[in-house]
Amino acid sequence: MNWTEKYRPKSLKEVLGNKKAKEALLQWAKKWEEGKPIKKAVILYGKAGVGKTSSAYALANDFGWEIIELNASDERNKDIIRRVALTGAIHASIGFDGTFLSKKKKLIILDEADNLYEKGGDYGGKRAIIETIKQTMQPIILIANDYYALTKGSGQELRNLCMQIEFKPVGKHEIVSLLRKICRAEGIEASEEALYAIAMRSNGDVRSAINDLQSLAYTKKINVNMVKFIGYRDREKEIFMGLHEILRAKDMRTAIRTAYRLDESPDSLILWIDENMPHEYINAHDLHNAYEFLSRADVFLGRTWRRQYYGLWSYALELMTGGVAVAKRRSYTGFTKYSFPNWLRIMAASKQSRAIKEEIAAKVGRVMHCSRRKAMEMLPYIKKMAEHAEIAAKFNFSQQELQFLIGEKAVEVMEEKKKVRKTARQQKTLF
Ligand SMILES: Nc1ncnc2c1ncn2[C@@H]1O[C@H](COP(=O)(O)OP(=O)(O)OP(=O)(O)O)[C@@H](O)[C@H]1O
Ligand SMILES: [Mg+2]
Repeated sequence: MNWTEKYRPKSLKEVLGNKKAKEALLQWAKKWEEGKPIKKAVILYGKAGVGKTSSAYALANDFGWEIIELNASDERNKDIIRRVALTGAIHASIGFDGTFLSKKKKLIILDEADNLYEKGGDYGGKRAIIETIKQTMQPIILIANDYYALTKGSGQELRNLCMQIEFKPVGKHEIVSLLRKICRAEGIEASEEALYAIAMRSNGDVRSAINDLQSLAYTKKINVNMVKFIGYRDREKEIFMGLHEILRAKDMRTAIRTAYRLDESPDSLILWIDENMPHEYINAHDLHNAYEFLSRADVFLGRTWRRQYYGLWSYALELMTGGVAVAKRRSYTGFTKYSFPNWLRIMAASKQSRAIKEEIAAKVGRVMHCSRRKAMEMLPYIKKMAEHAEIAAKFNFSQQELQFLIGEKAVEVMEEKKKVRKTARQQKTLF
């Protein structure tokens, strides 16, 4: 079941945020209970997923009113709206003399009223609604996303007839508390950070926040990286098309311009390129050259992080796109299936590799009496040096660290390193 339905507020009290709007609605409904208010209809307007439709239903529920929801832009509903508004009768066949009519009020909800006037000519929607509001015996709620579209031009009259209530985007703390409640009810464990990330993404749209949460609920444990994953899933198509342009570009400028247009941060763009380049550059030589550029871009990215100097990002970006594009000697055509970088794997791996780098830097710093930052900068040299068992021994790198620094050679160097350390211990020198 869709969670937005499952957790739709039943009472106005459960509607998040929008205190003023709820209060205004409540007062308006009370007036209807007492007699007939001056403004017989209200217009609820605001962005998607902030609780307009829910509030209309919740209000009816709170007051025990029946609900007639009709699509106002459908010509065929014109007469039904009119009949309900004027007589309170839902079916033409009953209540002709009033005896069969229930005493309950009927709240007429005209949802998605934005394009009321565009369709069906002038008389169709607009005039009919205006005339109906003037004479109605029943409360009417019009709902629109675009207040301007609804009230422009001859919508002026409508504006004067109705009370206007704006629904605003819902605050992130409120959204988080709702998400937390849903998690509890569904037996899901989600980190605070993840819930906040979802709320931030939603921009106050509660529906999309709930949908995001449900889309991650295939697992019972939700962390913040998975939330990032949703963003990428949404943008997947756009990024694929951008990648396609970048990798196939015939000159640097085209590739770089596409990259800027994509507006993807360089440290994630590099993952996409890394993942998909081999699908595109079939020729081994091209691929090799392209990887040269990619690794240089990676170096710049690393410096960006270390120095917190984001000016270097553009170098990285240009190398990984422009550089990679011109690295190829051939032009590739035909269909290439791009794939989504396995985010969770990559995030995990990069987190781990960052931790390894940190540890290496710490060891180097201790031995060379320099800061970790300085040590980080020396990493490329350390990589060369670590191939020598004596040096590996001096820094006392672990197998994993050596693997990170020199790859396959680590096994061999590790053996050598052990011997070196053993001899050194025997001679009581060095270490
Ligand atoms: N303010 C809110 N409080 C609690 N839940 C909300 C709120 N706003 C939206 N929701 C959730 O989102 C779902 C959709 O909300 P609703 O239909 O009221 O949005 P809307 O403002 O009418 O959006 P649209 O303009 O797209 O029709 C609801 O079923 C509910 O689960
Ligand atoms: Mg709605």
